Amino acid sequence: MLRSDAVKNDFLYEYYCKVEDDNERKWAKKDFYTFISNQDNIFILAHSKPVGYLKARVIRDEIEIISILIDKKFRKIGIGKSLMYKLLNIALKKKIQNIFLEVSVENLIAINLYKKFNFIKVGKRKNYYYQNGRHLDANIMRLTLF
Ligand SMILES: CC(C)(COP(=O)(O)OP(=O)(O)OC[C@H]1O[C@@H](n2cnc3c(N)ncnc32)[C@H](O)[C@@H]1OP(=O)(O)O)[C@@H](O)C(=O)NCCC(=O)NCCS
Repeated sequence: MLRSDAVKNDFLYEYYCKVEDDNERKWAKKDFYTFISNQDNIFILAHSKPVGYLKARVIRDEIEIISILIDKKFRKIGIGKSLMYKLLNIALKKKIQNIFLEVSVENLIAINLYKKFNFIKVGKRKNYYYQNGRHLDANIMRLTLF
């Protein structure tokens, strides 16, 4: 690895950790490095300051959104939407037709965001998440771009 790559990776990991704050489920450095060193994976920064990020991956002719997270202090001011626009641009440049994701059926804020971009529900995964001692279903949502 070149020194400049190492500096860039360190910067990105620090950025990621600041947005995750003290989330105990955040990725370890080595897992994060493995992720960003794969050319099929996408890590988008919301801003030069660590206010939010979007992680996604290209799987054949589709993009899967893995996670989108905005620092609580910076929510509801359009940053989530700006990250989604950046992802759409990447998808169009790569000529990718479909973007999909899983979202908890109870995460109405995120569902609203995805609906705003014309994602539609195409399926459900039973008991996909386990949170605070409860199993939760996930909606599978898809956006077809062209
Ligand atoms: C979901 C999340 C990424 C939205 O980010 P954000 O920067 O606050 O979103 P924006 O300000 O760009 O708002 C985008 C849309 O989301 C919806 N939305 C945002 N906040 C909302 C709220 N409090 N209540 C209802 N809808 C809301 C609205 O549809 C909004 O569009 P509008 O402002 O034109 O009405 C953010 O709340 C977050 O990080 N949540 C925790 C992590 C998470 O749940 N990620 C998704 C996992 S699948």
